[in-house]
Amino acid sequence: MEIVIVASPEEVGVRAARRVAALVRRNPRAVLGLPTGETPKGMYAELVRMHREEGLDFSHVTTFNLDEFVGVPPDHPGSYHYYMHQHFVRHVNLDPARVHVPDGNAASLEAACDAYELAIARAGGIDLQVLGLGGEGHIGFNEPTSSLGSRTRIKTLTDDTMVASGSAWGAQGPPRHVITMGVATILGARQCLLLACGARKAKAVAAMVEGPLTARVPASALQLHPRACVLLDAAAAAALELADYYRAIERHKPDWQRRRDEG
Ligand code: GLP
Repeated sequence: MEIVIVASPEEVGVRAARRVAALVRRNPRAVLGLPTGETPKGMYAELVRMHREEGLDFSHVTTFNLDEFVGVPPDHPGSYHYYMHQHFVRHVNLDPARVHVPDGNAASLEAACDAYELAIARAGGIDLQVLGLGGEGHIGFNEPTSSLGSRTRIKTLTDDTMVASGSAWGAQGPPRHVITMGVATILGARQCLLLACGARKAKAVAAMVEGPLTARVPASALQLHPRACVLLDAAAAAALELADYYRAIERHKPDWQRRRDEG
């Protein structure tokens, strides 16, 4: 794994956007896997700025979101359909036909999960999967003990994730069930980019990067990925034993590699 530690959450957003933009400029038909949550908001804001000010073109880009709640209308403020519309889709020139978010309202949820896998395959697979990180080490909604071989399916959230899922849900909280890409779906992407910010993520970051490969920490599956980058602010990196080494690698990163990754 490539570990990049930057000073602030703002810088995580900007650096993540640069990586996405570098790929889209190189391959205008890129297929992106996209996350929701607080962490990627800065990345979306920077991509919107690049679209407006630098003409970054999304018209041929295809997107697949990681996950969605079950049984929530797409215009509910807590839904990920709504999140993507608010923070990204309505501000850029994506073709709505190429924007995919799992359908938590499908008559058959199982069929919708299978169809999602098929749609990813038909698009040629995901070129770059951007990810957030749950406090217990989940990616997407792959909660602890999710099979490392899992594909898109229905999952049951933990109490911790229910609480962390935001204020849009009111007193009763979010639905208990979600659709999420599986761990193996995520590992199938040609590149992965995981973002984590804040002290609240430090323990999960250390377990993901330096702990054993285990379904107890689904994000640790990224250790198997040939091209995974973990982009952290200083607070999220605070529990890493080898932080000085990761900083040295970043300082000595060859120019050709920097250009390839960030344009
Ligand atoms: C949710 C999402 C994840 C996200 C995680 C972290 O559970 N399903 O995809 O990575 O929360 O969210 P945040 O960035 O708000 O900390």
